[in-house]
Amino acid sequence: MQTKLMTISRFIYEEQRKYPNATGEFSDLLEDIAIAAKVISHQVNKAGLLGILGIYGNHNVHGEVQQKLDVFAHHTFIKMLEHGGHLAVMASEESEEVIHLADDANLGNYVINFDPLDGSSNIDANVSVGTIFSIHRKRSKGSRGTIEDCLQAGKYQVASGYIIYGSSTMMVYTTGNGVHGFTLDPSVGEFLLSHPYIQIPKKGKYYSCNEAYYPYWDKSTQSFINYLKENDVTTNRPYSLRYIGSMVADIHRTLLYGGIFLYPADTLDPKKPDGKLRLLYEVSPISFLIQQAGGLAVDGKGNDPLEIVPTSLHQRTPIIAGSKEDVEVYLNFLRDAN
Ligand code: AHG
Ligand code: MN
Ligand code: MN
Repeated sequence: MQTKLMTISRFIYEEQRKYPNATGEFSDLLEDIAIAAKVISHQVNKAGLLGILGIYGNHNVHGEVQQKLDVFAHHTFIKMLEHGGHLAVMASEESEEVIHLADDANLGNYVINFDPLDGSSNIDANVSVGTIFSIHRKRSKGSRGTIEDCLQAGKYQVASGYIIYGSSTMMVYTTGNGVHGFTLDPSVGEFLLSHPYIQIPKKGKYYSCNEAYYPYWDKSTQSFINYLKENDVTTNRPYSLRYIGSMVADIHRTLLYGGIFLYPADTLDPKKPDGKLRLLYEVSPISFLIQQAGGLAVDGKGNDPLEIVPTSLHQRTPIIAGSKEDVEVYLNFLRDAN
């Protein structure tokens, strides 16, 4: 079915019209994110030419070596969003503390938690990377938001999404009214609606995880992965392994093709007892998207990650997410083990 040619601005406006009392502030914030995405996309796509590949030299709060593009994307997101007048406070993977807006910035009623560049260890190999964002309403009384505004459970998100800088640049987001994908047409510099109402297939044939850590996983996860690899044509097994190592790319493929993505806890590895992915700006936004697309997302105990009340900006949580039937099989293994 040929999708009617619609820019992201037009789509956002049409969506806003469904809410007669809307002030337009939320719409403008989404528009600002789309503009920031174009700026970052432009830089990512020519990074190899600009000598901005490679290591920035600093380490971030997680002790991970910052890539130059991590830092560029972090600063671009802040710069493009802070003067829009829609935000009260921000939190970024690349900043230990919350980010308060400039003294001369107009303040607004929203909060954004973001991963400016996801999959950054892959940048120099020209592998798809992305940006992930999660938007909440400010709840604190004062005009300048606080860390409590960032530490809200994922079920209170008003929007979440990602931009994937791949063979083409796409922005995929939800405001709780389905998941929609927009592809950047560089010739006109517009995001055009290319994937309206994305619905994840009920069942897939791919599993996506870093199997190098298999020895550290709990027994039920190990049994589940072994089950996927058994030969049984009646249940479409064995599955194929697809793992890119950029969460945005792995999730984008899972959304479109189906299957299951796992970043379990390394129960036997003291460095990663809660897995690697961060709740605020990776697990929560992605879980909201997957659920809105008709899929399932759970944490390592089989609970909804959107129910977790965060206690710190960079806390980690395991995530198992993807096609409903595939995650349900995982949950059966989890229940059988307990
Ligand atoms: P980031 O680049 O924002 O730190 O995120 C990297 C994450 C995520 O993109 C991916 O799923 C995961 O790291 C891969 O981790 P492993 O290398 O341990 O598989
Ligand atoms: Mn990330
Ligand atoms: Mn990152």
